[in-house]
Amino acid sequence: MFRAEIAGTGSYLPEKILTNFDLEKQLDTSDEWIRTRTGIVERRIAGKEESSSVLAAHAARKALESAKIKAEELDIIILCTSTPDVLFPSTACFVQKEIGATHSAAFDISAVCSGFVYGLSIAEQYIKSGRYRHVLVIGSEVNSRIVDWTDRSTCILFGDGAGAVVMTRKETTEPCGLLSSHIYSDGNLSSLIEVPKAIGRAEVSTENGNPEKFCIKMSGNATFKVAVKRMTEVCLEALEYNGLCREDVDLVVPHQANKRIIDAVIKRLQIPFEKVFINIHKYGNTSAASIPIAIDEAKRAGRIQPGCRMLIMVVGAGLTWGAAVIRW
Ligand code: ACO
Repeated sequence: MFRAEIAGTGSYLPEKILTNFDLEKQLDTSDEWIRTRTGIVERRIAGKEESSSVLAAHAARKALESAKIKAEELDIIILCTSTPDVLFPSTACFVQKEIGATHSAAFDISAVCSGFVYGLSIAEQYIKSGRYRHVLVIGSEVNSRIVDWTDRSTCILFGDGAGAVVMTRKETTEPCGLLSSHIYSDGNLSSLIEVPKAIGRAEVSTENGNPEKFCIKMSGNATFKVAVKRMTEVCLEALEYNGLCREDVDLVVPHQANKRIIDAVIKRLQIPFEKVFINIHKYGNTSAASIPIAIDEAKRAGRIQPGCRMLIMVVGAGLTWGAAVIRW
C-alpha cells in the first residue's frame, strides 16, 4: 500500500516588516483595532525583485534540503498561488527552472487561501496511486501587490511569503503520512472575497494596466461567519473519516486568516488551545502560503514529533475550504 509522507518542509519570508504602527501612519486605523480584531501585529512585504516564483524557489530549496531529495528527483511541482508572476506560463515553470527540477512536470493551481490543501490533495492522489514518487507542493503569495492600500478593512490583513513540502511515496500498511484530505467549493459565494476585475473579463480588457482594478474586495463579516461554519464541519468530517476523536489530535495547524476565526473553530471542536499553532501575529494572512509556513515553523519549533497527529484546516475565496489529517 502506498502512503504519501511529508519528507521535508521549508519556508521563506521577505525581510521587510510592515507593522500595525506603520499602517497607523497611512490609514485611519490603530494597532489596538488590528490586534484585537485579527491577532495580527506585523506582516512581511516582498521586495521589488521578489515575485511569487522567487519566494517559492527559496522555500522549495529549503524543503528539498530537509527532505534530502535532489530537485532532479522531483516528479511534479504543484504551485498554489493567486498572485502568479505573469498570466502564463505558470509560475511553477519558473520555479522548476530556478531550482533545476529537470525531470518534473510543473503547474499552478488556484484555490486562493485553500490552495495548499487542494495542492496536497492532488499530490496525495498521484502518490497513493503509485504513479509518482516525489511531489513538491508550494504555497507562495505576494498579496501586497493585489491589496488596495487605501482600504483599511482588507489591507491590514494580508502579507507575503512562501512555504513548501516535499511529499514522498512510502510502501507500508502502517497508517502514516497524509491520511486523508477533504476539499470543497461553493461558487455561489464567489462574491464574498474576490479580485473582481481580471484579464479574461471583456469589460476590463480595455482598461488593462489600471492597478486599481486588480484589488481584493471582501465582505469581511459574512466571510467570518461562513469560515467558522465550514471549517468546523470539514474538520469533524476529517476526524470521523479517520476514526479519530478530538482527543487524538496532537496539533492543529489552521490557516492563519484571523485569530478570532481560529479561536471560534477550536472552541466548537472542543480541542485545547495549547494544541493550536499560531503565527498570524508575525505574518498576517499569507493565503496559500499560510499553512506550509506554519507547518515548517511548527516543525522547527519541535512541535511536530514522530507519530504526531496533525489536523490542518482552511477557508478561502471561491468559496473554498478543506481539511487534512497527517500522521508524522
Ligand atoms: N481599523 C479601524 N477600523 C476598521 C478597520 C481598521 N483596519 N477595518 C474596519 N474597520 C471598522 C469598520 O469600518 C466598521 O466601522 P463601523 O462600525 O463604523 O461601520 C467596524 O470597524 C467594524 O467592521 P467589521 O467589518 O464589522 O469588523 P469585523 O469585526 O468583522 O472585522 C475583519 C473585520 C477583520 C475583516 C473580519 O471580518 C475578518 O477577519 N473576516 C474574515 C476574513 C477571512 O477570513 N478571509 C478569508 C480568507 S482571505 C482569502 O481567501 C483571500
